[in-house]
Amino acid sequence: MSKSLKKGRLSPQLKECLEFYQELGAEFIFQRGHSDENQMDDEEIRFLSLEEEIRSCQRCDLARTRTHAVPGEGNRKAELLFVGEAPGRDEDLQGRPFVGRAGALLTKIIKAMNFSREEVYITNVVKCRPPHNRTPTRKEIMSCYPYLLEQIELIKPKVIVALGGVAAKFFIPEAPGIMKIRGKWHEFQGIAVMPTFHPSYLIRNERDRERKRMVWEDMQKVMERLGRK
Ligand code: URA
Repeated sequence: MSKSLKKGRLSPQLKECLEFYQELGAEFIFQRGHSDENQMDDEEIRFLSLEEEIRSCQRCDLARTRTHAVPGEGNRKAELLFVGEAPGRDEDLQGRPFVGRAGALLTKIIKAMNFSREEVYITNVVKCRPPHNRTPTRKEIMSCYPYLLEQIELIKPKVIVALGGVAAKFFIPEAPGIMKIRGKWHEFQGIAVMPTFHPSYLIRNERDRERKRMVWEDMQKVMERLGRK
């Protein structure tokens, strides 16, 4: 068994799956470009293992009503991390974050920032859809937050964009409300956090161009910080 398989913190299912690939001779699974990066590193294994754990999570009642848990997607070494509230209907059906109307708008915003969706990582505070898209409860957030913490620890982004009030509250618990804190830099475990309005809020208030302008203003600060402007 390769060193990387022995060292990583693997769930039995993922371990079995990786061993199977190895038996087949599918060494490409463990190869990543250049010589000393040739093996799948421990963090990558932890990341895959974490995504798998989220997909089969039973920590709260949302597990009973969801179709798919949605761990997140994108570049696991992204310098920019977007965090929303919780999956909606489309996300629940597809098992992918921000793929509905709000997702289309978020994708536009990301592109306008000179990034691609593949370059950033996109996830939510809560990984399963609350019935009828209600706001996640405190209990649900408390059950789910270790996943987001571990994702952040592994991704090590330079900037986190908190989309909407639930995400903003997660990173800035003392926050008086998204209206007051948006557009201002905050810090979470040494990482710069920019709270802004949620894309769904922009969609619900489509005629309000001022809100859109504010989000764009916030994103320009992010671009500046990441040298994309
Ligand atoms: N709204 C969110 O907060 N997250 C999604 O993934 C989709 C819509």
